[in-house]
Amino acid sequence: FDNNNLRPKWLSEYIGQDKAVEKLKIFIEAAKNRHEPLDHCLLNGPPGLGKTTLSYIIANEMGVNVKVTSGPAIERPGDLASILSNLNSDDVLFIDEIHRINRSVEEVLYPAMEDYALDIIIGKGPSARSIRLDLEKFTLIGATTRSGQLTSPLRDRFGVILNLELYDIESLTEIIMRSAKILNIGIEREGAFEIAKRSRGTPRIANRLLKRVRDYAEVKENGVITKKVAINGLNLLEIDKLGLDNLDRRIILTMIENFSGRPVGIDAIAASVGEERITIEDVYEPYLMQIGFINRTPRGRIATEAAYKHFGIEYREQENFL
Ligand code: ADE
Repeated sequence: FDNNNLRPKWLSEYIGQDKAVEKLKIFIEAAKNRHEPLDHCLLNGPPGLGKTTLSYIIANEMGVNVKVTSGPAIERPGDLASILSNLNSDDVLFIDEIHRINRSVEEVLYPAMEDYALDIIIGKGPSARSIRLDLEKFTLIGATTRSGQLTSPLRDRFGVILNLELYDIESLTEIIMRSAKILNIGIEREGAFEIAKRSRGTPRIANRLLKRVRDYAEVKENGVITKKVAINGLNLLEIDKLGLDNLDRRIILTMIENFSGRPVGIDAIAASVGEERITIEDVYEPYLMQIGFINRTPRGRIATEAAYKHFGIEYREQENFL
């Protein structure tokens, strides 16, 4: 079964991200009324929140085709020049992980974004000159987990910057109910709610847990995901009550045990759990902050009382560190 069927195709079907969706509706309608392509858009936020989905929706709403690539996949300037010169008028070019394109490739993007043009250098040394090739008008949609890592010349060339946030439980419940309907899975709202609570604010995880709980419901129960079936299935899958995985646990426990609950710098946490700082900042920390397990203070990160409680560790007031 094709997972893409779970992807909404229109903004009207898109659940959550209300602020981003509201803005997009206006910008899309305005661009369509003017018969212009949409301005270049930067989508920023943690993985799994639907940045790719949103770019397909934008293309669909604009009535154009989308070409998909990613920062690391574009190795040389010529690769990007080739992609750009093959776009049709008003097409969307989606570049995932755009913060990872290299500098020489990025320089091809500047005139392309600004003037719909490619500057080709001919020759070498003092006799080198550049000729300009016109491109069709297009919309660049860049996705990134860290807009702060984009160079400012690149960031400044996006007319629209949208920040996506982790989804709340209500929105995730809606998404699970919608997916269950598409996949023909019997589910009660309370069952969807239990799955939503353990999905780390992320639709991609919610849809994956839905499929695994369906397996459990079909084999061990009568196929319908009730609250009780969901809880039993999720427990069997060893999904933590808050959806925490092993690295989440190690991050919190290292803060509590190795650093005795004092404020810790991100690099110290990364070294202690043996993971890249960037992964912790972009993938793990947003959720741990959303559920109120980590606070950022000027002196570093601290684990909160809620985090101690979750792991059954006695909490001692640490106010002298704040
Ligand atoms: N599936 C994944 N993300 C979704 C969203 N935001 N709305 C509806 N369905 C989705």
